[in-house]
Amino acid sequence: MAQRIDIKDLNVYYGSFLAVADVSMAIEPRSVTAFIGPSGCGKSTLLRTLNRMHEVVPGGRVEGTVAMDGVDLYGPDVDAVAVRRQIGMVFQRPNPFPTMSIAENVLAGVRLNNRRISKQDAADLVERSLQGANLWNEVKDRLNRPGSSLSGGQQQRLCIARAIAVKPQILLMDEPASALDPISTLAIEDLIAELRSDYTIVIVTHNMQQAARVSDRTAFFNIAGTGKPGRLIEMDDTRTIFSTPSVQATEDYISGRFG
Ligand SMILES: Nc1ncnc2c1ncn2[C@@H]1O[C@H](COP(=O)(O)OP(=O)(O)OP(=O)(O)O)[C@@H](O)[C@H]1O
Ligand SMILES: [Mg+2]
Repeated sequence: MAQRIDIKDLNVYYGSFLAVADVSMAIEPRSVTAFIGPSGCGKSTLLRTLNRMHEVVPGGRVEGTVAMDGVDLYGPDVDAVAVRRQIGMVFQRPNPFPTMSIAENVLAGVRLNNRRISKQDAADLVERSLQGANLWNEVKDRLNRPGSSLSGGQQQRLCIARAIAVKPQILLMDEPASALDPISTLAIEDLIAELRSDYTIVIVTHNMQQAARVSDRTAFFNIAGTGKPGRLIEMDDTRTIFSTPSVQATEDYISGRFG
């Protein structure tokens, strides 16, 4: 299920503004890759290029390639909508559909794909996805209650269940725990550790401890100043980045000297 991502010579624009410049990196399957760096360095922008969400913004465009198992997502024959379906995304603020039931929230992505699905298959998929997101036991007796009846941490796990219900190859998470309390944050981190064996996961986080805890590889991005593009400064095993980074700016950032 999990796929490898190869980014090569990627430039990402908003109109004439070059937001991210010259990124080349490999993201391994069945692992967690963390994107870290100061605000505005382009972490979210880069993340959104990985499922072609970036170009939804007017003027949003890229140069270079993003290949999934060797196939360029920006190739002429590739359907952007199909890419977005295959690559799940979880946002900073949990965004369940508030009036939809818990079960219907899990099925929302599947329904959007117009897949016809029997009642029994739907029930099985709801259970499997909620178990996968580590939420089943907490909600199994109230699947018909609205998504908004859950706590913030539960809502975020519901969004993860919705993302994995469509069986994506890749899961992108943009600060998935930043709006959550420490207990819910740990639940999300545990979940990421479990999902890691089946998916390719990319997580943006401002929390250095979190990056160190959940990720296998860490990529540090930086900007030289306002109006300048964000760049990949270095990428390595998380342990190496947090113990012996090769660039001074990385060390300054992870030790809290800026950003
Ligand atoms: N929709 C947009 N239109 C124009 N410029 C944008 C848009 N979204 C982001 N930018 C700009 O692109 C650059 C990178 O922004 P981005 O949101 O990717 O940074 P980030 O690293 O995710 O920051 P943060 O840590 O604050 O979330 C910034 O200069 C930002 O102002
Ligand atoms: Mg961001």
